[in-house]
Amino acid sequence: MGIPIKAFALLVSLLLCLHRSAADVGTASSYRPPYLPTACYGGDSSQFPADNLFAAAGDGIWDNGAACGRWYRIRCLSSAVARACAAGQPAVLVKIVDRAVNLGGVTMVLSLAAFGAITNSSTGEILQINVDFLQIS
Ligand SMILES: *[C@@H]1O[C@H](CO)[C@@H](O)[C@H](O)[C@H]1NC(C)=O
Repeated sequence: MGIPIKAFALLVSLLLCLHRSAADVGTASSYRPPYLPTACYGGDSSQFPADNLFAAAGDGIWDNGAACGRWYRIRCLSSAVARACAAGQPAVLVKIVDRAVNLGGVTMVLSLAAFGAITNSSTGEILQINVDFLQIS
């Protein structure tokens, strides 16, 4: 009876590991308008999703411009600022529309709408958060 339980526990921890390894851990900050022009689509304002959930890719994921139009799931994990993540650590889907240059080596820089969707608006200024991120498409 002990063995099946151990096998089950092993299976569960394996699945958790696989699940965890699917997303990478990185950092995100936010940026303000003006958002045009972008490195991906220039001055075309139709590039932004209707909900304004978009981001600029840091060099680690820029991929020579291939990052343009990719969608990422971003989840707030923690920050140097206490309680910076919104309740329940929600995730947000963002479209890459730009390249983030000279912004302190962050993984990506989120639009104010995207940053606001996963951070705690009652906290003072949050400069940077730790995130997990997963390319969806
Ligand atoms: C959001 O920030 C406020 C002010 O610091 C804090 O009282 C609250 O608990 C925070 N919410 C979460 C989910 O951490």
